[in-house]
Amino acid sequence: MSSDDYLQVNRTNWDSRVPVHLRGYAIEPLLADPDRLSDVVAFDRPLLGDLTGLDVVHLQCHLGTDTLSLARLGGRVTGVDLSGASLAEARSIASRAGAEVDYVESDVYAAPDMLGDHRFDLVYTGIGAICWLPSIRRWAETVARLLRPGGRLVIRDAHPVLLACLAMPVGGEHPDRVQQPGITAPGGSTPALELPYFEQSAPMVWEDEDSYAGEGTIAQPRSMEWNHGLGEIVTAVLDAGMELTSLAEHDSVPWDALPGLMVLDPQTGEHRLRDRPERLPASFSLTARGR
Ligand SMILES: C[S@@+](CC[C@H](N)C(=O)[O-])C[C@H]1O[C@@H](n2cnc3c(N)ncnc32)[C@H](O)[C@@H]1O
Repeated sequence: MSSDDYLQVNRTNWDSRVPVHLRGYAIEPLLADPDRLSDVVAFDRPLLGDLTGLDVVHLQCHLGTDTLSLARLGGRVTGVDLSGASLAEARSIASRAGAEVDYVESDVYAAPDMLGDHRFDLVYTGIGAICWLPSIRRWAETVARLLRPGGRLVIRDAHPVLLACLAMPVGGEHPDRVQQPGITAPGGSTPALELPYFEQSAPMVWEDEDSYAGEGTIAQPRSMEWNHGLGEIVTAVLDAGMELTSLAEHDSVPWDALPGLMVLDPQTGEHRLRDRPERLPASFSLTARGR
C-alpha cells in the first residue's frame, strides 16, 4: 500500500478507534456540568480568551469534546474531521449538551473548499493532530486560507521531540553518570530519539491494536504518521503569510505518551516524565495571526 492511500488508511483507523475512545474520553463529566471544559481547552484557555461571538473552526475535532468546550466559551463553532464515525458521536454529544455545533466531514487540506471559503476569527487545533498530515507547509497554507485578516491560529500539539522518542531500556553505564548522577542507570528506561524528528516524505506506518485512551482492541490497527520539526512548523506558518505571536514549550502532554516513564497530574489531566521532566519538551503552543 502506498502512502497515497493515507487518507483511507487513517480514516478507517480513526473510525475504528471510536468505540474504544467513547469509553476512554471523559464525556459524562462534560455532559453532567454545563460549565465544564475539557482538560485540553482548560489548559489552552489563557491563549483562547473569550470567544463570544467569534467564528471558530476546530480542525481534527474527533469526538468533539474540545469543540463543545469552545462553544461553551462563546464561539460559533464548526468542527472538521476526516472520520465520519467520530463526527456521528460528536453530533450526539453536542445535542445531549444542548450546544449548537456544525460538524463537517473533510480532510484538513480540503476544508477551505468544503466550507465554501468561509473565513474564521479563530482556527483551533492540536493534541495529536498535525502528526496525521504529510506536509506541514500545506497545513499552514490551509490555516491561512481559513483565517479572516487579523484572525488567530491557536495550536497546542505534541512536541516533535516527544514524537521522535520511544521509551528504551538502558543497557550500559554512561561514563558521564559520575558527574551527572541523574543520568539513567543500567536497567532503567529513558526516552530515546529513535524516530524521525524532521518531516520525511515517507510516513511511519504503525500496526497498533491499542489506543491512547480507553480499553479494548482497535479493529483497523494500521495508521500512517509524520513528524514535523519545530523549525519546520514555525517556518511553514511564516511562509504562509501569518504573523507569529507566541511560541511556548511545555513539559507535559494530555496523554500517556511514553508508557512507564510518565506520571499523571490528576488536577490537569497532563502527563509528564516521572524522573527529571525538565529533560523533555512534551508539547508546544503556538499562536499566529492571519493577514
Ligand atoms: C487525536 S485526535 C485529535 C483531536 C483532539 N485533540 C482529541 O483528542 O479529541 C486526531 C483526529 O484527527 C483526525 N484526522 C486524521 N487525519 C485527518 C485529516 N487528514 N483530515 C481531517 N482529520 C483528520 C482523526 O479522524 C481524529 O479524529
